[in-house]
Amino acid sequence: MSQPLYLRVAEELRLRISRGTYPVGTPLPSEAQFCEEFGASRGTVRQALGTLRHEGMIGGGQGKQPVVRTPALGQPFETFMSFTAWARQLGRVPGQRTIEVARRGADAVTADVLGLDPGKPVVEVLRQRTMDGEPALLERSSFVEPVGRLLFDWDPDSGSIYAYLSRQGVDLRRARHTIDAVAADETDAELLDVPVGSPLLRERRCARDSHGTPLESADDRYRPDRVTFTIDNERPA
Ligand code: GLP
Repeated sequence: MSQPLYLRVAEELRLRISRGTYPVGTPLPSEAQFCEEFGASRGTVRQALGTLRHEGMIGGGQGKQPVVRTPALGQPFETFMSFTAWARQLGRVPGQRTIEVARRGADAVTADVLGLDPGKPVVEVLRQRTMDGEPALLERSSFVEPVGRLLFDWDPDSGSIYAYLSRQGVDLRRARHTIDAVAADETDAELLDVPVGSPLLRERRCARDSHGTPLESADDRYRPDRVTFTIDNERPA
């Protein structure tokens, strides 16, 4: 049985809010506009808005023009995009604090992802990424050699590592992302400004060049109140 229309409308609005189509702090379009767009009755649209109000995504009270509340932005995974490019696409200001760029021996997990023997040298970059000045995620990336050594000449204030590597002729074209949840450890807590033990979304990634050679293994930890993950897909016919 297909989902009731109000749930489909609610889902669509949730997606638009999380993707920043309707920015935080601004009023949603009017009920009449939604009725027309979704071919729905006023009662259906109100029910959808009631669901979002209940979830805390919109405020403003029954009968008042709803205002977008949630600051969480949905990062789409249909394309492999750098954080910088994604933030700019949403009209946000990406920022970063580079905590460390260091050469070290690959641990067992990193070595496995990158197809190296454990202990082989990789260059690890630890960065706090911000969105409009607020910490959004902590990225720990390990790059294989000889790509890694390029990062010692990268200007950490210039932003995008992927854009920098492209300019050096290294293109990270595809990736496998594995999503799970972790509790914030002390480093996460300090750099993401959350209590130790808070739930975080984790994206582990193996990024490859166009020939399929793995170049980067990453462990990125996101504040779920700032970033969520969204995937649009279709059921096969
Ligand atoms: C985001 C993406 C990662 C990517 C990173 C690089 O975190 N989820 O896939 O590693 O961006 O971003 P940038 O090129 O902005 O340094």
